[in-house]
Amino acid sequence: MAVSPIIMAVAVVVLSVLFLLWRKADVSLDPDEPPIALAKIPFIGHILGLMRYQIEYFEKLCQNNHPIFTLKILSSRIYVVRSPALVSLIFREAKTLSFDVFTTQFLKHALDGPQHVIDVFENTTYLPELHVQMYGALAPGPDLTDSNLRVLNVLSRYLVPQKTNLYALLREAYTIAMGESFYGPNNPVPELVDEIWNFEESLGLMMIGLSPRHLAPTAYHAQKILAQKFKTYYDASLEIHGNALIRGRARVARDHNLDNEVLGIFEMAICFAPVTNVVPSVFWLLSFIYTDAALLADLREELASVFGKEGRGGVIDVERLKKCRLLVSTFQEMQRVKQHGNAVRFVTADMRLDGYLLKEGSIVQIPSAVLHTDVAVWGKDAKSFDARRFLGVDEKAARQKGFMPFGGGKHLCPGRYLAFVETLGFVAAFVMGFEMDGAQRVGSRLQKLGFGARKPERDLDVVISRRKGFEEVRWGFVSGGKEGGVG
Ligand code: HEM
Repeated sequence: MAVSPIIMAVAVVVLSVLFLLWRKADVSLDPDEPPIALAKIPFIGHILGLMRYQIEYFEKLCQNNHPIFTLKILSSRIYVVRSPALVSLIFREAKTLSFDVFTTQFLKHALDGPQHVIDVFENTTYLPELHVQMYGALAPGPDLTDSNLRVLNVLSRYLVPQKTNLYALLREAYTIAMGESFYGPNNPVPELVDEIWNFEESLGLMMIGLSPRHLAPTAYHAQKILAQKFKTYYDASLEIHGNALIRGRARVARDHNLDNEVLGIFEMAICFAPVTNVVPSVFWLLSFIYTDAALLADLREELASVFGKEGRGGVIDVERLKKCRLLVSTFQEMQRVKQHGNAVRFVTADMRLDGYLLKEGSIVQIPSAVLHTDVAVWGKDAKSFDARRFLGVDEKAARQKGFMPFGGGKHLCPGRYLAFVETLGFVAAFVMGFEMDGAQRVGSRLQKLGFGARKPERDLDVVISRRKGFEEVRWGFVSGGKEGGVG
């Protein structure tokens, strides 16, 4: 069918106007703002790109090599930062480049929190008080020692020979360990393992704020079920058996007249944050180590030299893990190649960042995938795993290179000490005491918006057996000079 010349003419005019408007998007930026990255398809190109490639879309755009650039999506702006120096400046500006705005958005959209609680977040000292409480409970000291031991005691029950799916095993072990150690006995987490992971799966979709009930029904219902179960937990005052983090959070909430129903609504945040990064981390570590015979042998030698007889006796003193330099380097390198979530900040007022103008109401995205694998910084082999890369590299030097797996500044992950101990304590005992058949290096799934660590594209069927010479060893842990939990 021939197209009428009039329709052709109208189409040309419409397309030309659209094209001019698209170009104008560039002009409408202030000249001091970071340069714009135009989408191939006008108006909706970035939206389509984000839907299709999720976090990986930022990696594609970063090929333009600007240290910071702007995405315009309709009337909103996203500044994407790929320069380690700029990222350090961003982490210092906690007030103007705010994380708290996203905490409130999370409550509103992902947790479906009621308006009176959003008001408490926005208009009272609840969030700053919670911040102090949370960071105190997870900082080195007796409370952290208690949490370390509670987690590791549960994990040690999983250090037994078995034929299993590695990721599924770790998912169950760490989620149940988190539940028992944070909330104490009789907590509802064992019956909520799927809900916690289903929630995380659709977090990005929920945060868009467009009817999560319809857009992400599984995650939406997971949150409702978990909130109800935790209301029952708080109604029975079971938190008196919880760790310092859980007891303290409940106290701060009650000081602000938030009841058990609200405490139940909050709980998903604390259930998913500790496990969703740790489980893939342990999976990647074990798969990297058990597919490299030389690395496995060197790690065993190092662990034997640090833990000596105690290791043979099955007791790992987690305070000594830092002495295992190769193990720590292997952990950091795994984080470099797999810890690829985006840190985000909200611009609360117009500001200057090293000369660039950032406009109020915009979002700053820091794609760690780009920072962690920049060839100009990490060298030609930036994308490959090299367990020895971090040997002799101190924390400051690593940060200057853009290595920030736990974020930074005021919101630097408070769980990093616990994460280090629960990841490396378990891996140390596993490597010393067990063989694993079936390990492979599998690829990663598409990195969704809202994800932290990359997830494996498939699970591994493995057979875990006791290592020769360690058949009789039963594994346990010591922290702060204490053995066993106090729960
Ligand atoms: C390998 C494991 C982990 C990684 C890679 C990780 C990473 C992160 C990152 C990147 C952030 C955002 C920081 C920022 O934007 O500057 C964060 C925040 C947070 N993490 Fe972790 N995390 C891990 C384990 C844990 C654990 C075990 C907990 C236990 C309680 C935890 C609790 C939190 C909390 C509560 C926040 C929010 C902090 C705030 O609101 O200021 N994380 N984490």
